[in-house]
Amino acid sequence: MKQARPLYEREPELAAAAQAVDALCGAQAAGRLLVFSGEAGIGKTALLAEIQAMAADRCTVWSARGGETVTSVPFHVVRQLLQPALDQFPPDEVRALFGAWYEIAAPALGLAEPSGPQPDPQGVRDGLDWVVSRLASRLSHRPLVLGRFPLIVDTLIIGS
Ligand SMILES: Nc1ncnc2c1ncn2[C@@H]1O[C@H](COP(=O)(O)OP(=O)(O)OP(=O)(O)O)[C@@H](O)[C@H]1O
Ligand SMILES: [Mg+2]
Repeated sequence: MKQARPLYEREPELAAAAQAVDALCGAQAAGRLLVFSGEAGIGKTALLAEIQAMAADRCTVWSARGGETVTSVPFHVVRQLLQPALDQFPPDEVRALFGAWYEIAAPALGLAEPSGPQPDPQGVRDGLDWVVSRLASRLSHRPLVLGRFPLIVDTLIIGS
């Protein structure tokens, strides 16, 4: 969401992010990871919101917010990131996006009941990686920017 008021003294951070978005949207798309850290209230989340608004014209922007109260909720951030993106597709296309990973990864996103024994956590992560890659290639006309809003460090992944 774009800030109603301009951000003061954030020109270097905004310039770095603008460069990263340009690199992502250029002829030879290159992804970057930007991490913004600072004390509580310094303006990390406001900065990410500004950057995401700046990228939204040219990119697909996904964002999620973590927090101390939800650390016990499995896959909380990844659910927030992926559910709105998956909602754009009819159920049979969502099923196809998961491919062979459906039974392992779909329960992590609340899209299917768990079946069989609890899967290996690394397997679930691999399945989610696969789904993100497939989604990114479906959305390749608009490169992907991920924003994540935990408490101390805010991370922006420019590219996938
Ligand atoms: N550069 C800035 N110029 C003007 N106002 C700002 C700036 N950065 C942040 N603010 C304002 O300061 C307040 C706190 O900012 P924000 O919530 O982004 O901090 P934060 O670092 O994410 O805090 P927390 O660590 O608690 O998550 C907000 O009202 C925001 O609009
Ligand atoms: Mg914050």
